[in-house]
Amino acid sequence: MAEPFAIPRSVEWNDTHITILNQQKLPLVTEYLELKDIEDVRDAIVTLKVRGAPAIGITAAYGLALSAQQYETESLEKFKEHVRKDRDYLASSRPTAVNLFWALDRLVSSIAHVSSVNEAKTTLIHEAIRIQIEDEDVCRRIGEHALSLFQNGDRVLTICNAGSIATARYGTALAPFYLAKEKGMNLHVYASETRPVLQGARLTTWELMQAGVDVTLITDNMAAQTIKAKNITAVIVGADRIAANGDTANKIGTFGLALLAKAFGIPFYVAAPLSTIDLATKTGEEIPIEERNPEEVTHIAGTRIAPEGVNVYNPAFDVTPHDLITAIITEKGIVRGNYETELPALFAKEARH
Ligand code: MRU
Repeated sequence: MAEPFAIPRSVEWNDTHITILNQQKLPLVTEYLELKDIEDVRDAIVTLKVRGAPAIGITAAYGLALSAQQYETESLEKFKEHVRKDRDYLASSRPTAVNLFWALDRLVSSIAHVSSVNEAKTTLIHEAIRIQIEDEDVCRRIGEHALSLFQNGDRVLTICNAGSIATARYGTALAPFYLAKEKGMNLHVYASETRPVLQGARLTTWELMQAGVDVTLITDNMAAQTIKAKNITAVIVGADRIAANGDTANKIGTFGLALLAKAFGIPFYVAAPLSTIDLATKTGEEIPIEERNPEEVTHIAGTRIAPEGVNVYNPAFDVTPHDLITAIITEKGIVRGNYETELPALFAKEARH
């Protein structure tokens, strides 16, 4: 059996710098980059060298800790002020994935009661490392719950990359496929290419092929034909932000797949950690949707494919209404239907552990 986790880690803390796998260059080149200061970290997030909601959160947490190590002062007040400014700077990198804000705020809170600058510096590093370690465990548990929804031989459609390199390990929507492989169960993944940035074509196929998981690539406009002709049994996707009522922001194209799943009568699953659930955002209407550079649409791999001067609309995410979602799969279990009461209950469960 192939070893699933020959797959490189997307982010690593290295004391004086952060090492990331450059996801912009995959799958043609496996390149690692050293992020040496907070500007490098913000730039890596903005330019999608590191991407995927949990991986963005982990990288930003390390970025905040790194910048704090480099700040020299004896004054704890000044130090905390510096950390708050850095928090806002990193928080301005991408607006949709709530894991970014969740991780940064968790670091800021971790130093609320420290008594020296040195203690604050150590605390920030430890908290960031903890976020990464916890995410690996969380993803494995999401995978176990998700796997209980599948049967041997199922053919499952996904979009974007909610895999190992989008998290600490395993991924969210891709976690069940790694666990199925470990258990000798046969699941076939159909990966939608995910225009315009091609996370499905470039990243999901790359990850799954290395792990020996059966994967077939389709273009986004082949989804309906594929569901029909290949008898797709379910759709599973990740999430960037889940509102209190279950409305879910995820990569552009997800909403369309949810509508197709309904039309074909197959389940549509969202797999995400609690750190992606934002109870302060009441409905999907309130989720900010990032709009990215028009060049992502007018160019493919640096080559222009549309006329110069054409109008472009390039939203990076869409929101799937909760009533199209069959279930939300988290590390604390699977919730179905009554999200407004079931999602807060997951956090109550969390507090008791
Ligand atoms: O723009 P991206 O590549 O960061 O978008 C990523 C997604 O939409 C993922 O599905 C989501 O972040 C979940 S990653 C486990």
